[in-house]
Amino acid sequence: MSDKIKLIIEGTEYELPVIEGTEGEKAIDISKLRDLTGYITLDIGYKNTGATKSAITFLDGETGILHYRGYPIEQLAEKSNFLEVAYLLIYGELPTAEQFAKFENGIRRRTLVNEDMRKIFDGFPVNAHPMGVMAALASSLATFYPNAVDPRKDRDATDLRIYRLLAKMPTIAAWAYKNSHGHPLNYPKNKYNYCQNFLYMMYALPTEEYEPDPVVVDALDKLLILHADHEQNCSTSTIRLVGSSKVSLYSSISAAISSLWGPLHGGANQEVIEMLEQIKQDGGDVTKYLAKAKDKNDDFRLMGFGHRVYKNFDPRAKIIKVACDNVLNKLGINDPVLEIAKKLEEAALSDEYFVERKLYPNVDFYSGIIYRAIGIPVNMFTVMFALGRLPGWIAQWLEMRIEDQPIGRPRQIYTGATKRDYAPMETRK
Ligand code: SDX
Repeated sequence: MSDKIKLIIEGTEYELPVIEGTEGEKAIDISKLRDLTGYITLDIGYKNTGATKSAITFLDGETGILHYRGYPIEQLAEKSNFLEVAYLLIYGELPTAEQFAKFENGIRRRTLVNEDMRKIFDGFPVNAHPMGVMAALASSLATFYPNAVDPRKDRDATDLRIYRLLAKMPTIAAWAYKNSHGHPLNYPKNKYNYCQNFLYMMYALPTEEYEPDPVVVDALDKLLILHADHEQNCSTSTIRLVGSSKVSLYSSISAAISSLWGPLHGGANQEVIEMLEQIKQDGGDVTKYLAKAKDKNDDFRLMGFGHRVYKNFDPRAKIIKVACDNVLNKLGINDPVLEIAKKLEEAALSDEYFVERKLYPNVDFYSGIIYRAIGIPVNMFTVMFALGRLPGWIAQWLEMRIEDQPIGRPRQIYTGATKRDYAPMETRK
C-alpha cells in the first residue's frame, strides 16, 4: 500500500499522506489540505471522516466485528464483568487482581452523593424524564467538585474523578427513578457489588425485604458490558469535542448524556419497545409496519433497525437476542412483544428494502425486552444505556486529553448572503 496519494486540483498535483491502522483501515491525512490547496473537505454527518486515531475500540461494520482493546465482545460478554471491562477500556489492559481490587474499592466507597443534591432532585417535576435528570446532575458534579485537573499531570486526581462518576451515576439514576415514583430514596450498601447495588437502590422498599435476583444481576452486567463503548458514535464524538475545550470530565459527560438521549441514538431502545407495543395493540401485523417503514411519505422508522456503521448484524444484537431468551426462560416470563420482535426481524431480513439498504437489528432492538423483563421501566431504558456507555465515554475523553489533542473546531462552507449594507427599518418592505 502506498503511503501517499496524489490529488490534482486546477492542474496542480499535490501529495497527501495515507495512514493505516492496526486493523488495516486506511485514511487520507488531510490535516495540511487547506494550507496546501486552499480547499477544505465537506462531509455532513461525518459519514466518511475520521475525527481521531484511537486505540480503544475497533469495529468492522461490514463483518459485524466489535473489539474492546482487542478483546472480542463475545468473549468479554461471556467471561468478564462490567467493572473489569470498564477498567480495560479506561486503562487499556485487563486488570491484575490487585489493580481490580483498588479500582473496585475506589468505586464502591464513593457511591454516596452530596446530600445537597437531593435539593436539586426535589426541584424536578415528578414526571421529569430521568435522562434530563442524569444530564443535569452529572453537570452539577462539576460544582460539587469544581477543580478540573489535567489528566497528563495528575493521574491520581483524574482516577478520583473516574471513580466518582462510575460510583455516583448509578445512585443518581436510581434516585431519579425513585423520585419520579414518589418513593423514598435507597442509599447504596457496600455489601453489594456494582449491579446488585443499582438494583437494590432501584427496587428496595421499606415495606419488604429485597435481595437482587442473581439472574437479573447477571443480565444487567452483560447488558452494561455490551453498551460500554462503540468508537466514535454521536455521544462519544460529543464528549471528545466538548472535552477538547478542557472543560471538566463531569461537564463533558453531561453533554454526552444529552446526546445519547436522542431517538436516533440511545433513545432508540425506548422507541423500540413503544413501537413493538404499538404493533401488539394494533393486532401484531408486522407487515403493515414494514410497509410504513418503507413509505417515504411516512416518517415512521423501524426503530432498532439500521446503523451508521454496521451494514451487517450488530454483534451486540446477536448476543442480546440469545440473552433475551435465556432471561425470559429463567424468569418464567412469556412476553408477547418478544415474539413480535422476532416476527418483525424475520420479515425485515427477507424484505428487499431492508436487505438492499443493509438494515439489520442494532443493539437497541432487543435490549428493551430484557430491560422490561428485569423490571426496568421504559423511560429508564436510555439511562441504562448511559450507565453502560459511561466507561467508554471516560476512556475516549481520557485518550483525547492525554494526547493533548487541539480544541475541536471544524470548518464550513458558507452559503448565506454575500456582503450587503445595513438599511434603516423605515426603508425595509
Ligand atoms: C445507536 O453510532 C453508533 O455506534 C450508535 C450506537 C452506539 O452503540 O453508540 O450503535 C447506538 O445509536 C444504534 C442506532 C439506534 N437508532 C435507531 O435504531 C433508530 C432507527 N435507525 C435509523 O434512524 C438509522 O438507521 C440510523 C440513524 C441508525 C442510521 O442512519 P444513517 O446511517 O444516517 O442512515 P440513513 O438515515 O441515511 O438511512 C439510509 C437509508 C435511508 O433510505 P434511502 O434514503 O436510502 O431510501 O436507509 C433508510 C433511510 O430511510 N433507513 C431506514 C431505517 N434506517 C435507515 N428505513 C426504515 N427504518 C429504519 N430504521
